Amino acid sequence: MSAIEAPTMLAPRRVTDQWTVLPSWLPVPGLGALPINSFLLKGREPVLVDTGLGALGDQFVAALESEIDPGDLRWIWLSHMDADHIGNLGQVLERAPHAKVVTNFLGMGKMNLAGIDVSRVHLLDPGARLEVAGRTLVPLRPPYYDAPETIGFFDTGERVFFAADSFGALLPEPVDGTEEVADETLREGLLGWSSIDAPWLTSVDRDTLGRTLKSIERLNPDIVLSGHLPLARKGVGQLTHHVAGAYCRGASSVVDPLAIEHIEAAFA
Ligand SMILES: [Fe+2]
Ligand SMILES: [Fe+2]
Repeated sequence: MSAIEAPTMLAPRRVTDQWTVLPSWLPVPGLGALPINSFLLKGREPVLVDTGLGALGDQFVAALESEIDPGDLRWIWLSHMDADHIGNLGQVLERAPHAKVVTNFLGMGKMNLAGIDVSRVHLLDPGARLEVAGRTLVPLRPPYYDAPETIGFFDTGERVFFAADSFGALLPEPVDGTEEVADETLREGLLGWSSIDAPWLTSVDRDTLGRTLKSIERLNPDIVLSGHLPLARKGVGQLTHHVAGAYCRGASSVVDPLAIEHIEAAFA
C-alpha cells in the first residue's frame, strides 16, 4: 500500500475468532497517515466498538454491513466522544434498533450536550463490567487519552486489550499490522501521536506511568486493539517499551513547546 490523499476505508479484517477490525486511514499532511479503527465482536451478542469517521459515512456502513446485519447488533461501545470515534453513530443507531450504547456518566453527558439521543444508553457505573455472551469486557482506563470519559477494556474471552486512543501511531503509509513497520518507525509514530493526543504525558509522574505500563504487560494481552494503530499481534511489550522509554526514564525525549516551564524560562 502507498501513501493516501483522502480518508480511506479498507476492507474489514478478522483479528481473532470473534473480533474483526473495520480499518480506515486519515492522511495527516506532512506527518503521514493515522489509522482510525472500529472493531466488531461477533457471536450471540454482537458488539461494535466505536463508529468511525463521519467523513466515511456510507463507506463505513457498507463495511459494517459486509460483516454483519446491523439489526443484530446488541451493543455499541463508545470509547469516548471524539468525532473520529462517534462519526457514524446516528447512521448505526438507525440501522441497529436493538443495540444499546455503552458509555459512562461523562460520556452520556457529552452525548446529551451534542444533542445525541441518550435513551438507549447502557450506563457503565465505576467498577461495572459488561457481560457479553459468556465473556466479560472489563472496562479500564488506558494509560493515556485525550478525553476523560475514555474507557478501554480487557476481553476475558480472547485476551484482547482495547486501548482506545492509547498506542496510536502516525505512520508513513497504511499497513495491516505493526510487524510490517520498522521498530524505529513505529517508535517515532507512537511518540508523534502521543505528543499530539496526550501532551500532558511529559508532565505525569514517571513512576506512576511506569507502573501502569507494567500492569498492562502483566495483563499480557494476546492482541492489542487501538483506535489508531494497525493490528499489534506481537503483544503489548514493544508498545509499552517505546512509551516508557520516552516518558518514564530520565529527561523525556518528547518536548512540549507549550509547557509553562518553557514559557517561564523564556521570560525569566
Ligand atoms: Fe480521542
Ligand atoms: Fe481518537
